[in-house]
Amino acid sequence: MYKLIEVARIGDLDRGYLSYFESNKECPFDIKRLYYIYGVPQGVERGAHAHKELKQAMVCMSGSVKIVLTDGSESKSIILDSPHQLLIINPGLWRDVSFLQPNSVLLVAANDYYEEEDYIRDYDDYLKYIRKGSDNEGTL
Ligand code: TYD
Repeated sequence: MYKLIEVARIGDLDRGYLSYFESNKECPFDIKRLYYIYGVPQGVERGAHAHKELKQAMVCMSGSVKIVLTDGSESKSIILDSPHQLLIINPGLWRDVSFLQPNSVLLVAANDYYEEEDYIRDYDDYLKYIRKGSDNEGTL
């Protein structure tokens, strides 16, 4: 399951803007980790994995990023191109990420520390995982 929400945008053209999201408010989990991806050349494919348990919230701080989410049968393509859009991704969805503009920056908030064991990095393994019917079976 994923959700794309608009967060508050405080300000105006003259002074600029401020946006925010908070644990268990706009962001529906406790945030334990932040990381950010930047300097990605156009044409490079990132992502290409799913998480078994990890919940994430993504904001494109600058530029634009395309996230393609797949649940094994359906796909949704989401363009993040504004710092007041927040994309919530629940566990169990496969994602492919590409950066559409130079200098794009993708900020990710996650509900847990980095654990490689939580990743599924092979698409065939992912299909097997969701067909086994895990609790976090990914449905878009
Ligand atoms: P990865 O999640 O595969 O990035 P992407 O999906 O954008 O391609 O992570 C890339 C590398 O960084 C991988 O070796 C794991 C490491 N990493 C950490 O050490 N800590 C983290 O919090 C994250 C997200 C990744």
